[in-house]
Amino acid sequence: MANVRASTPDAHLPASAAEGSGRAAIGVFSISDAVGAEVRGVDLREELDAATIEVIHRAWLDHGVILFRDQHLSAGDLVRFSRCFGELDLGPTMAWQAADQEFPEIFIISNVMENGHPIGFLGNQEADWHTDMSHTAIPPKASTLYALEVPADGSGHTGFMNMYKVYEVLPSPLRSRLEGLHMKHDPAHTLQGELRDGFTAESFEDLEAAEGPVHPLVRTHPESGRKALYLGRERNGVYRAARILGMARAESDRLLDELWCVVRQEQYAWYHTWRVGDYVMWDNRCVMHRRESFSADLRRVMHRTQIRDNVAPA
Ligand SMILES: [Fe+2]
Repeated sequence: MANVRASTPDAHLPASAAEGSGRAAIGVFSISDAVGAEVRGVDLREELDAATIEVIHRAWLDHGVILFRDQHLSAGDLVRFSRCFGELDLGPTMAWQAADQEFPEIFIISNVMENGHPIGFLGNQEADWHTDMSHTAIPPKASTLYALEVPADGSGHTGFMNMYKVYEVLPSPLRSRLEGLHMKHDPAHTLQGELRDGFTAESFEDLEAAEGPVHPLVRTHPESGRKALYLGRERNGVYRAARILGMARAESDRLLDELWCVVRQEQYAWYHTWRVGDYVMWDNRCVMHRRESFSADLRRVMHRTQIRDNVAPA
């Protein structure tokens, strides 16, 4: 793990503050030089007024990732708060749990097994750097995670990377080469490299014939107007999750290698050490994330929601 930083803000610099009616002041504190802020003074179970929601929305746009500590959220609280920022996608369900989920908007992320079945997704493995759902036409604008159980040894960090800054640090000739380029993203494989239903191992070999959404390599954030590098996801050497259009495969691979090399320096990454009660919401349009593996003997249970965007990357 590179560039690990304490998840408690070391520089208590309020980025903004507002007084909720009858509540303690809400404060926004930068967490690292790279990305992220902690929002304090808010109990997300409460009905929040428009001014408070606006401060939270602004913090999310300005910092890319926002963290709320010491929350006590039911599944209903999580869904209700997430809906303050847009419509929610439905989570993937497993055959044995589909019938009784009261809140189908919640994805369970967990390695815990019950009655011989995993209760959630992702197990205990590493998840490499990615943006969520880049293999869809309109990826979600935000993903959120609420920690119910975390490994006692502090493992299973989640890393976040500021893709505005990664784009801005690229040498100018490289940035110029990226102008106008688009990539086709592979819908055939999951992040773990497994084939999705309905696809074959050859599904992404022939770029011209392959299904898959096309997104710009550099996207302009629809709310901030800033440019961010938009790579989707990659899995080192196992498969290519994206192809640049108008280039031979070898040329596309070389350029993507060059860009992923910058990503892997993790110059603009921050790693969060989870505590029970943490709620984190990130901007999926300008932030990539990854998760470190943790021991299969330790329990980790998170509830996740996904907030829809209404425009495709452009
Ligand atoms: Fe993810």
